[in-house]
Amino acid sequence: MSGLLNAKSDDGRAADEDVDSLVADLRTQGVVVVRDVLSAKECDFYRGRLDRQLKERIDSGSYCGNETNQVLDNYFQTDQELLPLIYQELTDRVMRRMIDDDYVLISPSARNRRTLSGFEFGRKTSGVGWHTDSRFIGGGQGTKPSLCYMTILCVDAFAKENGATHFIPNSHLRYQRPADRDADLDYNFLIAPQGAMVIFDTALWHRIGDGTEKSRWGVFNTYGPWFMKPYHRFDEMVPRATLDEMPPIFKQLLHLDSIPPKDHNESMITLRRVRAAVEGQ
Ligand SMILES: [Fe+2]
Repeated sequence: MSGLLNAKSDDGRAADEDVDSLVADLRTQGVVVVRDVLSAKECDFYRGRLDRQLKERIDSGSYCGNETNQVLDNYFQTDQELLPLIYQELTDRVMRRMIDDDYVLISPSARNRRTLSGFEFGRKTSGVGWHTDSRFIGGGQGTKPSLCYMTILCVDAFAKENGATHFIPNSHLRYQRPADRDADLDYNFLIAPQGAMVIFDTALWHRIGDGTEKSRWGVFNTYGPWFMKPYHRFDEMVPRATLDEMPPIFKQLLHLDSIPPKDHNESMITLRRVRAAVEGQ
């Protein structure tokens, strides 16, 4: 895992050469950690909102994982204050390099690997046992390079003691699934301080760590190319008026710029940006 890059220089932007080295490390090592993407104040704010969302979703019977691993899928659907978590300037620069300028959000979830005593809402969660989050074709062949990259915004620190994710170094270069989810393999801990962002290649073999009673909120966002389907219809989750007030990248991330035209009479071009250039629409 690469050193802990600082996200911001004096003007609030990472230097171009730091982004270059981050992208190079992500390609070779499959995982990088960037410090100080969220401030301590922002972490406190988001932890409070996520805890509140969890309570509301438990009370309303919405899916939230279980008492040892709480999952808020599509966290911004029920709390628009969480919508900014899908975009960071640095993530944007990295995803434009790793994917392309039209990249989109594929799956957003906030996860807390924490044991809640006094609760019982046991539902199965993803992430248990060795796995990748890649796509496979041709009878189990992973695409090379990977189509998707995941970020984890560490609202709480990820440490050995509190459920940090496990990963197998350099396994992203195999472009294959682990044969056995329960195999006994040598692994590293995905350790990151509060406020850091982890970026990893979805082909990296990983699994959920062992939880404790300590909070370990992480916001997991997977990004991919515009032609990949999102897990859900994000474009219907946020009121249009809210989106209109956001920078245009939010519409792009939520797939509004890559919805296929109704039929051949409307257009043969899916990407709104390309359609506008070609057809002036
Ligand atoms: Fe995963």
